[in-house]
Amino acid sequence: MARIPEEKIDEVRTSVNIVHYISQFINLKKAGQNFKGLCPFHTEKTPSFMVSPQKQIFHCFGCGRGGNVFTFVMDYNKINFIEAVQRTADFAGILLPKQEEASPEEISFFERLYNINESACSFFEKSLAKPQYKKHLEYIKNRQISEETIKSFRLGFAPDSYDQLLMHLQKEKFPLEEAEKLGLLQKREKSAGHYAKFRYRIIFPFQNISGKIMGFGGRKLEEKQQPKYLNSPENPIYNKGSILYGLHQAVNAIRKEGYVILVEGYFDLLRLVENGIKNVVASSGTALTEDQVKLIRRYTRDVYITFDSDDAGVKAAFRSAVVIEKGNLNAFIISLPDGEDPDTFVLNNGIKEFIKLIKQKQLPVDFQISRFLQQNSSPGIEQKNTFLDEVLNSLLEIKNSLKIGLYIHQLSDKLQIKESFLIDQLNKLKRYHSKYAAAEVTPKDEEESTLIIRKGAHKAEAGILGVLINGTKEEQDYILQKISLDLIENEDFIKLFEYLLHEIEDRGSLDSSKLISSFQQDASLSKLISELMLVEFDNGIKFSRDCLYQLRKWQLEKKSNEILTLIKEEEGSPEALMHYKQQLMDFRKQLNNLEREQRKIK
Ligand code: CTP
Ligand code: MN
Repeated sequence: MARIPEEKIDEVRTSVNIVHYISQFINLKKAGQNFKGLCPFHTEKTPSFMVSPQKQIFHCFGCGRGGNVFTFVMDYNKINFIEAVQRTADFAGILLPKQEEASPEEISFFERLYNINESACSFFEKSLAKPQYKKHLEYIKNRQISEETIKSFRLGFAPDSYDQLLMHLQKEKFPLEEAEKLGLLQKREKSAGHYAKFRYRIIFPFQNISGKIMGFGGRKLEEKQQPKYLNSPENPIYNKGSILYGLHQAVNAIRKEGYVILVEGYFDLLRLVENGIKNVVASSGTALTEDQVKLIRRYTRDVYITFDSDDAGVKAAFRSAVVIEKGNLNAFIISLPDGEDPDTFVLNNGIKEFIKLIKQKQLPVDFQISRFLQQNSSPGIEQKNTFLDEVLNSLLEIKNSLKIGLYIHQLSDKLQIKESFLIDQLNKLKRYHSKYAAAEVTPKDEEESTLIIRKGAHKAEAGILGVLINGTKEEQDYILQKISLDLIENEDFIKLFEYLLHEIEDRGSLDSSKLISSFQQDASLSKLISELMLVEFDNGIKFSRDCLYQLRKWQLEKKSNEILTLIKEEEGSPEALMHYKQQLMDFRKQLNNLEREQRKIK
C-alpha cells in the first residue's frame, strides 16, 4: 500500500489543535490547564475525559483510552490510521499526496505466498506417495518413521528433476518470480526460465502455529550431496529465527504436560513423536532466539533442552538455556551419553530409558559444574577462574535474583569457593557491564516530600516514567542514575522505558510530542503514554525518589514472600533450606535499611 511520508503525517498532526477538533463532537470545559468533558468511549455522568492543549493529547481517566489527535479520530470513527490521517488533513485543509488504491495483488501478497508454499507442499507429499519413488519412502520407513507421522508432519519428496515442480507451479498459474522469492525456484543463468531448487531430497515443511507453510527443509539422500540440509532462504513469510519446527503439532501436548522438550534436529523430534512423546519442538540446529522463546512462553514456562552430546551441542544448549532464562522461563537440561542424539539414543536404548533421562533433568548450572568436574578431576585455581568467568557472565543475563542466589549456592558448594567471594565477583562484572548500575539510595535532601504515592507498584512505575517523559534534564538524569532495570516489571512499562532510555541516551533529549506517534499502532501503549504525559509533580527529584523507594520496598517484600514459599515447600535438602533462610534474613535486613533511610528523609 502506498504510504504517506512521515513528515507529511507530522505536518497534519501539528497543524490541528486537538481541543478544536474534539470540540466538534464533545462539550469541553476548561479545568485548570486542561479541558474536561464526558467521555465518548464509555458511559459516565461526571466528566473524566481530559484534553491537554499543551501536550496535544486526550486521556480518559475512566476507561483509560487516550492518545493524540490521530488516535482520537481512529477510535471515534472506528477507522484505520491512514484514513484517520486523511480525515484530519481534511479538517486542517491540507492536501495529501494522492493515495493509490491498493491493488488486489497487493492486498493478497502474503496470502499468495502461502498458497504457493501450500501447493508445493502437496506436490512434495504426492511425489512421496508415487510408486516410482517407493525407494525414498522406504528410506523414511527404514528410519522407523510411520505412515501416520509422515502424514501428520506432511513429509514429502522432491524428485531429482529440474522442471517437475516448475511445471506444477506453472499449471497452477502462480507467478514464478514469487516462487523464486520463496526459494522454491531459481532463475537460470545462461538461458531464460527457472528450475527447481529442492531436488532429490526428503522434504520437511515448516508450519506456523496455524499450520500454514512458511518454508521447507530438505535432507539429502546421497552421501555426496551438499549441503546435508537445504533450507528455504529468509523471505517475507519465513524467518528462521522465529519459528519452531513441530510447534503446530505439539501445542496441545505442551499444554497437557506443562513443559516442552527442545531438540535440535527434525529426526530427533520425529523419533520422540513416534514413541508417544508429543510435547517436543526443534530449534533446527541453532541456539534458540528470543523470538522463539516468546513463542514458547505462550504455552509453557518450563523448557527441557536435549542436544547432541558433542562440544558444539553442549555450547548451543547453554546458549539456549541463557536465552530461556533471560526470557523469564525455566531451563532444564536432559543430558545424553557421548556420541548420541535423541534419535539414536531412543533407537539404541528404547523410549523407557529416555523417559528416565527426562526425570533426571538438571538445572543448567548443575550440569555445567558436573561437566567441568568430569573434564577436570582436580581443577587448579586458573581452571576454576576461567570456568567461573564463563558461568558468572551467563548469570549476568538472568534477571531473577532467586535463581541467581541458587546458582551461586551450587557453585560455592561444589567448587569449594565462598559465596561472598562469588557475589563480589558477580557484582564487579555487573558494574563493569551495566551502564545503569543500581546506586544505593542516599538522599541528602531533608525537606519533606509533598507527594503521596498511591499504593500498588504500577503507580510508582508510572511515576518514574512520568518524570522521565515530563521532567527536566536534571530530573531525568537523577532517575537514570538511581534506577536499576529489574525494578520495573510491567511489560508495557519495560518496553516504553527502554525506548525512553534510547532516546535520551542517543539524542540527549526527548521529543515528547512525537512519543505517541512512535507507538501509534500499539493501542495499549498509546493509552499508557497519554496517561503518563498527564502525570503531574512539583519536584521531580523528590517524586521519583519516593517512587523508587516504593518499588524497592515492594521488590524486597515480594522476594521475601517468594523465599517463604520456597522454605515451606522445601523438602529434604537441609543445605538448600539453610541457604533460603540466609537469603530471607538478608532481604529482611535490606528492607529494614531501606525503611530507616526513608524515615530519615521524612
Ligand atoms: N541443520 C540445518 N542445516 C544443515 C545441517 C543441520 O538446518 N546444513 C539443522 C537441521 O534442522 C537438522 C539439525 O540441524 O535436523 C541437526 O543437524 P544434524 O545433527 O546434522 O542432523 P540430524 O537431525 O541428526 O539428521 P540425521 O539424523 O538425518 O543425520
Ligand atoms: Mn541424527
